[in-house]
Amino acid sequence: MTNRTCLAIILAAGEGTRMKSGLPKVLHKIGGLEMVGHVIAAAKAAGADALALVVGNGADQVREAVTSGAAGEVEIFVQEQRLGTAHAALAAREAIARCYDDVLVVFGDHPLLEPEVLTDARAKLAEGAAVAVMGFRPPDPSGYGRLIEKDGRLVAIREEKDCSPEEKKITFCNSGVMAVAGAHACALLDAVGNDNAKGEFYLTDIVGIANHRGLLVLASEAGLESALGINHRAELAEAEAIWQRRKRRELMLSGVTMIAPETVFLSHDTEIGPETVIEPNVWFGPGVRIGAGARIHAFSHIEGAVVESGAAVGPFARLRPGAAIMEKAKIGNFCEIKNTRVEPGAKVPHLSYIGDATVGAGANIGAGTITCNYDGFGKHRTEIGAGAFIGTNSALVAPIAIGAGAYVASGSVLTEDVPADSLAFGRARQTTYEGRGKILRDKLAAAKSAKG
Ligand code: UD1
Ligand code: CA
Repeated sequence: MTNRTCLAIILAAGEGTRMKSGLPKVLHKIGGLEMVGHVIAAAKAAGADALALVVGNGADQVREAVTSGAAGEVEIFVQEQRLGTAHAALAAREAIARCYDDVLVVFGDHPLLEPEVLTDARAKLAEGAAVAVMGFRPPDPSGYGRLIEKDGRLVAIREEKDCSPEEKKITFCNSGVMAVAGAHACALLDAVGNDNAKGEFYLTDIVGIANHRGLLVLASEAGLESALGINHRAELAEAEAIWQRRKRRELMLSGVTMIAPETVFLSHDTEIGPETVIEPNVWFGPGVRIGAGARIHAFSHIEGAVVESGAAVGPFARLRPGAAIMEKAKIGNFCEIKNTRVEPGAKVPHLSYIGDATVGAGANIGAGTITCNYDGFGKHRTEIGAGAFIGTNSALVAPIAIGAGAYVASGSVLTEDVPADSLAFGRARQTTYEGRGKILRDKLAAAKSAKG
């Protein structure tokens, strides 16, 4: 947006006991990404140059998650004692002291925070405000800090417990998003006391303090979703539902067809190309990219996989990590594909497990084919050449290579390589005794009638 520098401070030292979890609250996931990851993404999208994350209990777990994930560089600060939101922001004093133009303070448990809300707040600073607060109008304001305005300016935020009965009637509330001019941030935060109903150092008090110092404070309004804080798993599920709707819509607007969008579940990083059709009841775990003009048939479960343009998958297919289905290849019903590249035009149409393999271009894998890739200790590879034809119900015991253009007879159990263009049988020869069926039937019938 502007060329102003920006620090985003994410407060996440909440106790989160209502999650009933050993995992810190902000590490619970939405769309397969930790809540705090969503907040980090929003801050980055709003132009934050630096990110400071304030954590309390479970600091190591949070550090590990945000530094190993795709979140990029996030500086972690520990708030040893939970003494309030202003105290938490000051845990990142070292970062604030680096003098950014804008300092954003947001909450780590607000995963639906939209970048526009942050850019709005920053715009208010650019207009000359020392503090900008994003308000919202919840259906039930109880529990929220109330925004007290006068002549178009925000003069104070009063926390619910400190409100007079008159102030409690105010419906414009603090969403939790605040932007502070970097030049004033430390001084304002340092001036906050804890003389209030909760005995906490309230971030919201900087509004009144700034006013006393003759600084301009402005409020504007954010949508309900950006202000949605997660306290327990029922709220987590509500946020998930909203997030899924957003992501589906984004994909549909980019050209993806979803026949029953409400039954399709996406991850934060799901990519789907235009003209691709997603049938009902499909699950996308993290790490999936689908090309253009592909079709994902109903009831497929896909994670860590790539499906290239024009390919078809399912119904009832499972693509596990490392599956790469190339252009115009086809994976049919009840097939599981893991760590396997299926080259262009190849087909695995029915009832197969193909793991740790390559399937050459145009190869055809008969129904029920299994790659026996695991011996209880190690995983072994199966290489199937281009244009090979694997007969139904074959077991390919890896490591094994089937050459290009080779035929494997149905029902084979193969343990040795098959050279290109050859025909391999790996099964017992059939024996047929004429008339013996009738003899057997007569004998069994006689035995039964003798018993009575
Ligand atoms: C806060 C706001 C309130 C606003 C509401 C919106 C203050 C004083 N009040 O109230 O005006 O309407 O959010 O949801 O800011 N945190 C820490 N360390 C602390 C205390 C809190 O990191 O010592 C973090 C929490 O993890 C949480 C956030 O700050 O992410 C907000 O804290 P919380 O106690 O939930 O504040 P509320 O009472 O909800
Ligand atoms: Ca809260």
